[in-house]
Amino acid sequence: MLLPVFPPFQEPAIRAQLSAASLEVLQHISLFDAIDSTNAFLLQLPATQRHAHAVLADQQTAGRGRRGKTWQSPSGSNIYLSLGWNFTRFAKDLSCLSLAVGVAVVRALESQGIMNLGLKWPNDVQAGGRKLGGILLESKPAEEGGISVVTGIGINVAMPAEGTSAPNIDQPWTTVAELSGMESDSGLRDRLAAAILDQLLDTLGSYGTSGFEPFRADWQRLDVLCHQAVTVTSAEGEMHGYAQGIDPQGNLQLATQSASGKQHLHCFNSAEVSVRQSGFAGRK
Ligand code: BTN
Repeated sequence: MLLPVFPPFQEPAIRAQLSAASLEVLQHISLFDAIDSTNAFLLQLPATQRHAHAVLADQQTAGRGRRGKTWQSPSGSNIYLSLGWNFTRFAKDLSCLSLAVGVAVVRALESQGIMNLGLKWPNDVQAGGRKLGGILLESKPAEEGGISVVTGIGINVAMPAEGTSAPNIDQPWTTVAELSGMESDSGLRDRLAAAILDQLLDTLGSYGTSGFEPFRADWQRLDVLCHQAVTVTSAEGEMHGYAQGIDPQGNLQLATQSASGKQHLHCFNSAEVSVRQSGFAGRK
């Protein structure tokens, strides 16, 4: 059994740590002891009730990960947070929004003293090659040609150590507690949630008019795959090469070399492929 390590989320404590700008914009906070998925909860609301509505749960019974995977969501240990946001049809191209959200989450964690983080395309939050958090954006059409986006964020704050009663996660992972030694701080989870909400509200509020440009330099600073040998897996099979950052739509760029020595640059959409670092040793 997984023992809860944090007291339930406290709305007054979270609100007390939000910036004045966030408090002005935020419409609603919903807190749950247990829910199927914070993203699913927001998606079934009418779009008007979704906008600037934050949802936090202590446990998810059907947490959703990217590409149809389950997001392990034991109680009392982690952050499961979703925020709804409605963009008008005049908003900038949203194709890099999920990358901007990755930057926002890292900025929030850095503001709380959690350093040496990186982003694995498209938006896994990593530390030392281990996954610290994941981000899932889901959307629905909104009124007058707009789009309503639900941004879901899962952060491993204090999961039990591997080998004890650790959840079954299919890749190396770490926690904020492991990185920072702050597990004994009972207010940690509320504080992190407030810091993430501050950054997220700011990011969603500005993206519609400013787009990805204010995030690009930080994304490049945090890009753990850039110039690394990687394997991209899609429905067509595997491709080996070197990651070369992102194109203007946020697609992963992969440089490959054919047997005849010809170089190619391929672009991959995050919905269609997964990527992992590989031992491939071709030319950079
Ligand atoms: C990933 O696979 O890396 C994305 C994981 C996203 C998990 C979060 S937890 C809060 C929100 N609700 C969900 O059901 N999923 C997201």
